[in-house]
Amino acid sequence: MARIIGIVNQKGGVGKTTTAVNLGAYLAEMGKFVLIIDLDPQTNATSGIGVDQSAIELSIYEAILGKVKLSEIVQPTMHETLRIAPATSDLAGLNAELPNMERREFKLHDALLEVRNDYDYILIDCPPTLGYITLNGIVASDEVLIPVQAEYYALEGLADLLQTLQLVKENIRPEIQILGAVLTMYDKRNKLSNDVLQELYKHFPYYIFRSVIPRSVRLAEAPSFGRSIAAFDSANPGAKAYERLAREVLGTESSTRL
Ligand SMILES: Nc1ncnc2c1ncn2[C@@H]1O[C@H](COP(=O)(O)OP(=O)(O)OP(=O)(O)O)[C@@H](O)[C@H]1O
Ligand SMILES: [Mg+2]
Repeated sequence: MARIIGIVNQKGGVGKTTTAVNLGAYLAEMGKFVLIIDLDPQTNATSGIGVDQSAIELSIYEAILGKVKLSEIVQPTMHETLRIAPATSDLAGLNAELPNMERREFKLHDALLEVRNDYDYILIDCPPTLGYITLNGIVASDEVLIPVQAEYYALEGLADLLQTLQLVKENIRPEIQILGAVLTMYDKRNKLSNDVLQELYKHFPYYIFRSVIPRSVRLAEAPSFGRSIAAFDSANPGAKAYERLAREVLGTESSTRL
């Protein structure tokens, strides 16, 4: 059965999608069967891994509504064992539609039941809100990975996120775990980056991944070529960092963290 990992932070632009795509790519390169769920109406994971919007007839939107099976929307990528459940901007309507539905928090969870046995890892790229779409992403997850950007306001909002996760744990999915935080866009020449790391160590009550993702122009360029950093520039320090992160995530397979 797949480990389902939600990549969540309601703060925008902290590296959620970059982490979903590149962690997914490296887990696949390490021999795992990986499915990325693009749960963001911005569709950045979909385009970033090279799936053209015009090639999408059915998306995660239809799968969440139960109109099609999730396996019917899955598309291949240039990594042999990496697949994506693509999104289109249709998904934006879901935040308004979900509140009126039965099992409104469980729509994605229920849709994933069908494919759970087909993958080792399912990574869910959540949008930058704490609305119903993200709630579905969290509730569908066994574990949550939180990218934290190495910048001044990064830790603001983290308390809200942890509180939301605690509420989900208490009321909806008691078995949900916090896998940990990963620091992104780290600039070692910038003292601020180091301060954020120190603050995170001081105040974040969960695991912090040893692999810190550096700020790297190549990581930002790769999506415009529809490629993971593994396919685009595997020698880049950003690539090496995501490779290490993938290895660290593999290392948590047998242990449980909270
Ligand atoms: N380590 C990095 N170094 C340089 N640029 C990065 C890095 N990580 C992400 N970026 C760039 O920063 C921007 C935001 O990253 P990304 O899209 O991964 O964040 P996000 O949290 O998914 O954003 P959103 O909240 O809008 O979904 C993108 O342009 C991305 O290419
Ligand atoms: Mg994103």
